[in-house]
Amino acid sequence: MNSTQTQRYTITAALPYANGPLHIGHIAGAYLPADTFARFLRMLGKDVAFVCGSDEHGAAITIKARKEGVSPKRVIDKFHALNKATFKDFGISFDIYHRTSEPIHHKTSQDFFTVLNDKGYFEINESEQYYDEEASQFLADRYIVGTCPKCGHDSAYGDQCENCGSSLSPTDLIEPKSTLTGSIPVLKKTKHWYLPMQKHEAWIKDWIVNGLLDGKKHHNPEEWKNHVLGQCRSWIEGGLQPRAMTRDLDWGVKVPLEDAEGKVLYVWLDAPIGYISATKAWAEKNNKNWKDYWQNDDTKLIHFIGKDNIVFHCIIFPIILKSYGHDFLLPDNVPANEFLNLEGNKLSTSRNWAVWLHEYLKEFPGKQDVLRYVLTTISPENKDSEFTWKDFQAKNNNELVAILGNFVNRTMVLSHKYFNGEVPVRGEMVKYDEEVAAQVAEIPQKVESLIMQYKFREALAEAMKLARLGNKYLADTEPWKLFPQDPEIVKTILNICLQITANLGIVLQPFLPRTAEKIQFMLGLRDSKWDQAGKMDILYPYDKLGRTELLFKKVEDDVVEQQVKKLEKAKLSSLPAEPEKDTIDFEDFIKIDMRIGTILHAEKVPKTKKLLKLKIDTGIDTRTIVSGIAEYFSPDEILGMQVCVLVNLKPRKIKGIESQGMILMAEDRDGSLSFIKPGKKINNGSSIR
Ligand code: 2FM
Ligand code: ZN
Repeated sequence: MNSTQTQRYTITAALPYANGPLHIGHIAGAYLPADTFARFLRMLGKDVAFVCGSDEHGAAITIKARKEGVSPKRVIDKFHALNKATFKDFGISFDIYHRTSEPIHHKTSQDFFTVLNDKGYFEINESEQYYDEEASQFLADRYIVGTCPKCGHDSAYGDQCENCGSSLSPTDLIEPKSTLTGSIPVLKKTKHWYLPMQKHEAWIKDWIVNGLLDGKKHHNPEEWKNHVLGQCRSWIEGGLQPRAMTRDLDWGVKVPLEDAEGKVLYVWLDAPIGYISATKAWAEKNNKNWKDYWQNDDTKLIHFIGKDNIVFHCIIFPIILKSYGHDFLLPDNVPANEFLNLEGNKLSTSRNWAVWLHEYLKEFPGKQDVLRYVLTTISPENKDSEFTWKDFQAKNNNELVAILGNFVNRTMVLSHKYFNGEVPVRGEMVKYDEEVAAQVAEIPQKVESLIMQYKFREALAEAMKLARLGNKYLADTEPWKLFPQDPEIVKTILNICLQITANLGIVLQPFLPRTAEKIQFMLGLRDSKWDQAGKMDILYPYDKLGRTELLFKKVEDDVVEQQVKKLEKAKLSSLPAEPEKDTIDFEDFIKIDMRIGTILHAEKVPKTKKLLKLKIDTGIDTRTIVSGIAEYFSPDEILGMQVCVLVNLKPRKIKGIESQGMILMAEDRDGSLSFIKPGKKINNGSSIR
């Protein structure tokens, strides 16, 4: 069955952990391509369930909560709300944004466990596992770090090395350490339910490598990305291993058995089942049957994820689905993306090396589509790619403003100027016009074919060809020169330009929904369907055009510089504190005389950038101090301020002025300075000890 025949699609996007905000890496990895795909299929008139939600279990959540000294619920409620709102604002058109803390999810995943357990698909094993005696907790997954035995990376997790992508188990780690307390763990016996993946190796291999399921054609493996197939093959060739499906934790979906006190489901068992529970919740609300989206051969299941999730979606989840039975669908494709880097470095939440989506939306209001555009043009579809602010600016200014915005604007302005805002009648088309029309007819077909192959980057480039074509046509035909002598020809030219604009309003919809909406609004169009694309009669003669609106504005240099500075600052703030200096005796300390003083007067030291000359009331006397703070504070803003003064520092001459002490300042990692002030008004001369 080919794509256009399939009528129903279940599209899933990886459930992000509700332990932090979303950054551009998440968006480029899974959500933007998934949204483009879903929007496109809806335009084709397909029945689409596009589901996502928060992944609220697993160590990612509990470790964050522990670090912040709050409950896991506090963490998940905060980030579920933030991420849901951020996705919406960015225009990600999920049919539902669910959460794995919902009762329907607990019920659904427990049912999966029970069915697999009853069918004998698990093996129960007692083994020795690492245990943190200080925290009284077994250490699996992210609770334990150590050196990766495969690549030597020194902070590999107990389940995976994020550096080389190897799947690990805690006992593989060299020099393991608890992430909870930093202590060296001991081995202790515990019982778990294992999925013997090796027993499924034969059919998984046939399914992935040959696209066959139970001997029948399931999908075409050639349509899968090479890096996805490559990862799966290397897993299979390495030999599938039993994997524990339960954990000794108090946060998660409880194991639905009496002899499993204190155990929860492994987060990678419950999370993908979250797609099913989300579909159930959505179906219930919308009068649909969830089974149509998960157990019906006429439906295609597509998982959009980042490359670190490949094994879970291509091997583990399919084993679970098939073991459950009831003809659960297996994915038709898993178009995982590789990683996006930022300004030469890996994106990193912990090092704050990221462009956070909620911050972007606040700092660039109304520019959702600019980021959608840029991220699609650099989508890491087959290899890692890179976001830089310079490139963001260049793509906005040289492509969105200069090509797309410029073409639509010129077409609209000229149509209003010459034809009173009505679509002019198209006269006879000359050869060049016909050639342009032929190209317009081809572009949407190419866009469609590329989207169906998950080549969103190329598809958008193809769609933009309409705007490039329009600009070239305008430049070649020069209607502004022809109008005085031959307004009839200009009618034809502008009719063609308006039809190209209308095509842009359709073809750009999956990629840049707000821009497409604006274009349609300007043209007075509504509800255009994909099958109109490529045609030259989308607009009818005398149709009334709407008001012209600028689609994009230039991004100036200072805006980009500010963003780069923000990143640099974030990077510096995440640097560790300076190491401690050598120990001193108390006698050394009491030699230092520090007092509270008030700044009575401040002025810049002429011909210097950094120096201020201050008059300070130290409570002992009034004295002059020269301080290198002029880059951070103006004389006016510090007048009357109480500060800390080192009063017994030997006076020294600075720029010819005798400085009789020093003002104490805190210096941040980026070199910026801050005063150290008393917590309340206090007498000048009070000692600091
Ligand atoms: O890697 C992650 O962020 C996981 N929370 C993705 C889960 S995808 C699915 F299985 F739910
Ligand atoms: Zn490694």
